[in-house]
Amino acid sequence: MRHLVLFYSRTGTTARIAEALGAELDARVEEIKCPRYQSGWFSYLRAGYDSVKGRLPEIDSPQVSLKDYGMVILGAPVWTSYPAVPLRSFLAHNPDLPPRIAVFMTHGAHSPPDKALEFAEKLLPSPLVASLMIRQDDVLKDRYSEALAAFAAQLNAPG
Ligand SMILES: Cc1cc2nc3c(=O)[nH]c(=O)nc-3n(C[C@H](O)[C@H](O)[C@H](O)COP(=O)(O)O)c2cc1C
Repeated sequence: MRHLVLFYSRTGTTARIAEALGAELDARVEEIKCPRYQSGWFSYLRAGYDSVKGRLPEIDSPQVSLKDYGMVILGAPVWTSYPAVPLRSFLAHNPDLPPRIAVFMTHGAHSPPDKALEFAEKLLPSPLVASLMIRQDDVLKDRYSEALAAFAAQLNAPG
């Protein structure tokens, strides 16, 4: 397979986009898991606190050889205007990413998502092939197919 979609999702929104993108691109889809934020309203507060403090949690990363893929597409929600800390944790482990990387994030539209995207770009070893920021509301109401198709077309363009 040419593409790998690798995502973290706490409540399923980013997972929906990851699965839809995987189907659109015929890509392998894998999840980064993080039990620390899994359940209950307290885990929401903990997620926000860790995100602001830059405290990186333990994660369960899938056993995949990233270098075997022509492109890795990373997905996560926005937390306190940053990429969610499980993705930051993954990147802090210096994963062996291929040169072609893309990013998508879902967000609650509480604030402009650009800061989270800029932050993600700084953590990555090469410039992004493409990026996509989608509002949670649009995901839940199935209003993302056009944006997703445009993103997929950018990813499929020869580079
Ligand atoms: C701890 C925390 C902080 C958040 N901070 C922001 C934020 O700064 N800006 C924003 O637009 N949405 C924020 N959100 C909303 C999420 O980005 C949004 O609900 C996202 O789509 C959830 O994705 P998921 O279902 O894949 O976990 C935050 C959510 C959590 C849990």
